Amino acid sequence: MCGIIGYVGKKQALPVLMEGLTNMEYRGYDSAGVCVSKEGLIRVRAQGNIGKLKEQLAQHNLQGTSGIGHTRWATHGIPDEGNAHPHLDCHGSVAIVHNGIIENYQELREELKAAGHTFDSQTDSEVLAHLIEVECEHGSGLTAIHRALKRVRGTYGLLVMMKDLPQTLFVARMGSPLVIGVGSQEHYVASDPSAILPYTRDMIFLDDGELAAVSVEGVGLMNLDQTPVNKQVERFMWEVEAAKKNGQAHFMLKEILEQPHVIENSTRGRIDLIGTRAVLGGLSEVQDRLQEIDRLIIVGCGSAYYAGLVGEYLFEELAGMPVEVELASEFRYRKPIISTRTAVLAISQSGETADTLEAIREAKRKHALTLGLVNVVGSSVARETDAGVYNHAGPEVGVASTKAFLSQLTILTLMSVYLGQLRGTLSERAAGEVLAALYEIPDQVETILHNRASIRDIALTYQDMTNCLFLGRKYQAPIAYESALKMKEVSYVHAEGYSCGEMKHGPIALIDKSFPSVVLCPEDSVFEKTRSSMEELRARGGKIIAVTTNPDLVSHLCEDMIVVPQTLECLQPLLTVIPMQLLAYEMALARNLDPDRPRNLAKSVTVE
Ligand code: M6R
Repeated sequence: MCGIIGYVGKKQALPVLMEGLTNMEYRGYDSAGVCVSKEGLIRVRAQGNIGKLKEQLAQHNLQGTSGIGHTRWATHGIPDEGNAHPHLDCHGSVAIVHNGIIENYQELREELKAAGHTFDSQTDSEVLAHLIEVECEHGSGLTAIHRALKRVRGTYGLLVMMKDLPQTLFVARMGSPLVIGVGSQEHYVASDPSAILPYTRDMIFLDDGELAAVSVEGVGLMNLDQTPVNKQVERFMWEVEAAKKNGQAHFMLKEILEQPHVIENSTRGRIDLIGTRAVLGGLSEVQDRLQEIDRLIIVGCGSAYYAGLVGEYLFEELAGMPVEVELASEFRYRKPIISTRTAVLAISQSGETADTLEAIREAKRKHALTLGLVNVVGSSVARETDAGVYNHAGPEVGVASTKAFLSQLTILTLMSVYLGQLRGTLSERAAGEVLAALYEIPDQVETILHNRASIRDIALTYQDMTNCLFLGRKYQAPIAYESALKMKEVSYVHAEGYSCGEMKHGPIALIDKSFPSVVLCPEDSVFEKTRSSMEELRARGGKIIAVTTNPDLVSHLCEDMIVVPQTLECLQPLLTVIPMQLLAYEMALARNLDPDRPRNLAKSVTVE
């Protein structure tokens, strides 16, 4: 995720900015830049790592005691120097760095262009610099920023410098964290406390809707409605490593806990204001071709493949679209029947998985419409497909995919609604119901996350198991596969995912009292059948951990129970997978393993 750093004080700003950016490298980034104020705003940016930025800086003399910096993880616009932050207005009088997403940037951009502004980047962020420039006509500083932000819809952690006020930094927060570090006659600003921990532990944490002017003299804080705010300086006691994981013990846990926010980011700006249409700008260019397609093939590996299997149910139910899901690693060895009316959708967190890339190349050779559902902007899958949708899940560091998987399910839901409406198979009312239920999911995920202690207890009860079956039916079958994969990856317990219906065709032979099963049994259209499978397990002495929405229906059939909130059947996977991630994580801890470092695994598999 992007990182923000700022400094104003008596020291030279550049070394502070560079150290701050280096401290935030762990967040993942694809370009970086700084701007220092000294007789004007001097900006230097580079695509690639901080080393590349240093090479560029060697050709400049950035002297000055105030400055801002940024590491960018691309969302809008490819990762290149032109899209790197800081961004400037037309006259170099305002410089900004921004984290978050400006939802209405396209309309603002058009309006500003019509008023004579020229844009240098493809980012959503650049509009902020131009908007502030315009508003400076009514008074500079916080007044201008305040007026500009009134026009903006979306999220921001925003840091601004103005040529006319060189010794002041301006900050504003809405949905994207910012902290002000307090020193002696100097102040720091960062999106991440770990960036400034080498300098100070005294911090002011901004809340949403707060703005501040930060100078050597002090910090002036106010609300978006311009009422002054008084805030305590807090002593931040975490060490750097803990701060990077947001105080959590592992990246895997940090990413599991981030998921309510991830769903919000994946849907942000992608549902119309009335709540009845999915708006996927990344697909609009191929809308005509999408209307023509008669078949969708989804390809992916590992968790991405399992997300695709959920997608199959979604596309069939909501879009009436014939779908096949293929392991990308097998796709090219077959003779897939592909015509110009076939769309091939590649799902990949990294966008660099070699097998998925090869599958896309095969599809292109056969003239299919190729689509990507990718988290890393500008990655190979994103570049090589005709169109696509980005996850906006932020960088996933944990080797075991968690938040990217959830984001994939979220976007597959949006894509199904989008295609259903495009093809006329989904009524506005039905779409509205799905989108309204999707809107509730972040809070429902939050309630499951609060239940972590009871999931830990279950992990402790079963910590010595050597085998385990995960079972589900219909929408829950792919979640059973994904849950087994998570368990295998981080706890090394031999786990198999099966659809309930398949169990009696073989795996049931394994069941005895030492072979437990986790059964995903929400109260859905196939619940009665799933319950029959549970009866079959019990009849053979198998222990059951039930993942249910209604404890009364299954408590007599299981040893342990995990309760999740009820939602629409097609969205229930977004909820049942959360405790399964936590169970795998807690099982790894119970077995004394490091879930961030599973043996033999790499985050991204770039070899075939
Ligand atoms: O980057 P991708 O989504 O293409 O990666 C696909 C798989 O390698 C990945 O999902 C892998 O299975 C994870 N380790 C699962 O947790």
